[in-house]
Amino acid sequence: MNQELTPEEKEALKHVASKLEFYEEQRRNLIPILQMVQETLAYLPPEAIKLVAEHLAIFECEVYGVATFYNQFRFHPPGKHPIKACLGTACHVRGGDIILENFERKLGIHAGETTPDREFSIEKVACVGCCALAPVAIIDETVHGHMAPSKVEGLLMRIEIEKEMEERAKKKDESGQ
Ligand code: FES
Repeated sequence: MNQELTPEEKEALKHVASKLEFYEEQRRNLIPILQMVQETLAYLPPEAIKLVAEHLAIFECEVYGVATFYNQFRFHPPGKHPIKACLGTACHVRGGDIILENFERKLGIHAGETTPDREFSIEKVACVGCCALAPVAIIDETVHGHMAPSKVEGLLMRIEIEKEMEERAKKKDESGQ
């Protein structure tokens, strides 16, 4: 599902368009260009892919073909709370894929996607270096070890509650109470 660009992203897309001028219209520049786009926008939205294809005079599907070959490129905006589910060997044998499925089901998105409100994104990752805690998931910067399907809902709920509390505090500040 494509998400509409935010006003900030529309601005960033203009920067991308002006930076493209510095790249020769040569196919060998495709990877450096995609890296520049991702640095600027944090992912590769269809609008940027179109610009790149036009700049290099190639088809958009060719740009997608190359970009999807590399793990470094994202096609969805990173969520405010990125979730990384480890599927390295130790986590995999201890049910890492079941943890991933639980996050996917609860949030209604697949790995590699972002929720429509851009709050959460899910990513599959290889070993994150703490196999003794397998299965592991990382939410924001926090490592959650010995994950179990029953913990998934609680972790997501905690984030929702924190968000609600922040919003309430903000409203209170704004109303000067
Ligand atoms: S395999 Fe998941 S932390 Fe090593």
